[in-house]
Amino acid sequence: MNSNADDSGAELLAKPSGTAVSPLSIPRHVAIIMDGNGRWAQGRGLSRTEGHRRGMEAVRAAVETSRELGVSYLTLFSFSSENWSRPPLEIQFLFGLLRLFIQRDLANLHRNGVRVTVIGDRVRLSSDIRSLLEQAETLTRDNTGLRLVIAFNYGARDEITRAVRRLAEEVANGRLAPDAIDENTIRSRLDTADMPDPDLVIRTSGEMRLSNFLLWQAAYAELVFLPAYWPDFDRAAYLQAVEEYSRRARRFGGIAARRSG
Ligand code: FPP
Repeated sequence: MNSNADDSGAELLAKPSGTAVSPLSIPRHVAIIMDGNGRWAQGRGLSRTEGHRRGMEAVRAAVETSRELGVSYLTLFSFSSENWSRPPLEIQFLFGLLRLFIQRDLANLHRNGVRVTVIGDRVRLSSDIRSLLEQAETLTRDNTGLRLVIAFNYGARDEITRAVRRLAEEVANGRLAPDAIDENTIRSRLDTADMPDPDLVIRTSGEMRLSNFLLWQAAYAELVFLPAYWPDFDRAAYLQAVEEYSRRARRFGGIAARRSG
C-alpha cells in the first residue's frame, strides 16, 4: 500500500526496555487542520495574532517532521474560504504570515527539495499574493522531496463547485459527454488532481469535525483528533498521531482489514 513505509518508524518507536513494538506505518499523505491558535494565545493572555505567529513555527516543525518520517505529501489548512468572516485585521495578519512564510522559508524549502503547491480559489487573493504563490510553485516545480500543499482560501464545497462548473462548461461546449463522467473525471478537475488522497487527517484543538476540508479526498482517510492547540503541535504530537494511524485497520469499504500505510 504505502511505498514510504520503511524502517525509520521502527527506530522511532524503539523502547529502551527492549520490548517488541510494531514499526510505524508512515502515511503517504498527511493533511492537517491546524486549529486552536486563538485559544492557545488567549489562554496565555496574548493576542490571537501571536497565536497565529506561533502557529507558523509549528508549521515549520511539521514540515521537518514530515521530511524526517518520509511522508510524501503534507497538506495544511492555512486559510479557509469561511475565514473571511474574521475581523479584517486578523485576516490581514494571516495574509501577512503567508507572505512572510514564502519570503523567508522558500529558499530553505527549495534547498531541501520541497515542492510547494497551493490549493484553493486564488481569484479573491490580491495580485501580489498570487504572484508570490506562483513564484513558489514555479521555483520548486521539479523538486522531488516532500510535496507541501498549502490550502489557502480553500473550502471543499467551493472546490467541488468550481470543478462541477468546469465540467458543465465542457459538456456545454460539446467536449464532454454526460455519460462519460465518472469519479475519475471529477477527481481530475479538483485542485488536488495530481495528488493521492490523504491517508491521515489530523485536527488539533480537540474539535472533531472536518470543517469543509478535503471532503471528497478524505472519504477513506483515517481521522485523528488531538487535544493540543496547534502552536503546541510538535514532533512528539506528530508521532502520536502517526502511532494512532499505525494502529488503525483500513478496509476501504471491503471486509479484509489492511494495515494502515
Ligand atoms: C485556526 O486557529 C488557525 C487558522 C485559521 C490559521 C492557521 C495559520 C497558521 C498556522 C499560520 C500560517 C501558516 C502558513 C502556512 C502561512 P483559530 O484561529 O481558529 O483558533 P481558535 O479556534 O482557537 O480561535
